Amino acid sequence: MGLFTGKVAIVTGAAGGIGRESAIQFAQNGAKVGLADINEAGLAETAKRIAEAGGESISIMTNVADSKACDDMVAKTVSAFGKLDIIFNNAGISGDRAVITDTSNDMWDKVIAINLTGVFNCTRSALPEMVKNGSGVIVNTASVDGLVGMGTLSPYVAAKHGVTGLTKTTALEYSRKGIRCVAICPGYIVTDMTNNALAQEEVDGFNAMIPLGRGATPAEVANFVIWLASDQASYMNGSVHQIDGGLLSGMGLIT
Ligand SMILES: NC(=O)c1ccc[n+]([C@@H]2O[C@H](COP(=O)([O-])OP(=O)(O)OC[C@H]3O[C@@H](n4cnc5c(N)ncnc54)[C@H](O)[C@@H]3O)[C@@H](O)[C@H]2O)c1
Repeated sequence: MGLFTGKVAIVTGAAGGIGRESAIQFAQNGAKVGLADINEAGLAETAKRIAEAGGESISIMTNVADSKACDDMVAKTVSAFGKLDIIFNNAGISGDRAVITDTSNDMWDKVIAINLTGVFNCTRSALPEMVKNGSGVIVNTASVDGLVGMGTLSPYVAAKHGVTGLTKTTALEYSRKGIRCVAICPGYIVTDMTNNALAQEEVDGFNAMIPLGRGATPAEVANFVIWLASDQASYMNGSVHQIDGGLLSGMGLIT
């Protein structure tokens, strides 16, 4: 009997990185999984790995910035698997890096639309199914950039701070309907997002700042997501959790 036997989960941003690893772990623990992303080839690879592990999933091309697509994502998952118990709102982009005066409205709007409005859209689409069941878990991916600032990433930082606030408000509004909502704040995780954005000297700089001395694998984040979404975390609610190797612990690292 797996942690999620008989449960149905949706993972957004399931075509790679943290989302793919989490989707695989949900399936390995017995959940049937709706895989949502804009990357069709990446979704197919995640679905293949789930099938190889003996799990069950459906792939749904979904732009989380589009509220109708999010409604469709939930409807297709419920039509395939009968209900919805868990949603991991994880899709996100970092956006182009620039100081505020060099940040265009287009870039601001795009990052906010995917990283913040996307979480709102998916949450709003998922909640009626969870309310109908009288239970549910929502895990949102924020970031350490949802807790502190980060130069050259103003739309990302604003969106991720928004996700932490939305997480708390979701918990306030829906806990009495049996629904928990929590957020994770990853630090430096080695995925396509960071591999594409960071030069080697920046990677070295991060590793030097992180008390554990390295970035995390996506699987290390997925391990935490799985636990938070499970009944083992039944009293975790409205809370925001760093998973950052100690990055935000403070200053004065002794090496
Ligand atoms: N990698 C890190 O260091 C790090 C740190 C903190 C937070 N995060 C957050 O973790 C989440 C996952 O990122 P990752 O590191 O696994 O990166 P990733 O690039 O590997 O995965 C992000 C996924 O989101 C998908 N996506 C992008 N726009 C989308 C849209 N409009 N609709 C649906 N899907 C979309 C991408 O196709 C991709 O598959 C993001 O929210 C990111 O902000 C990452």
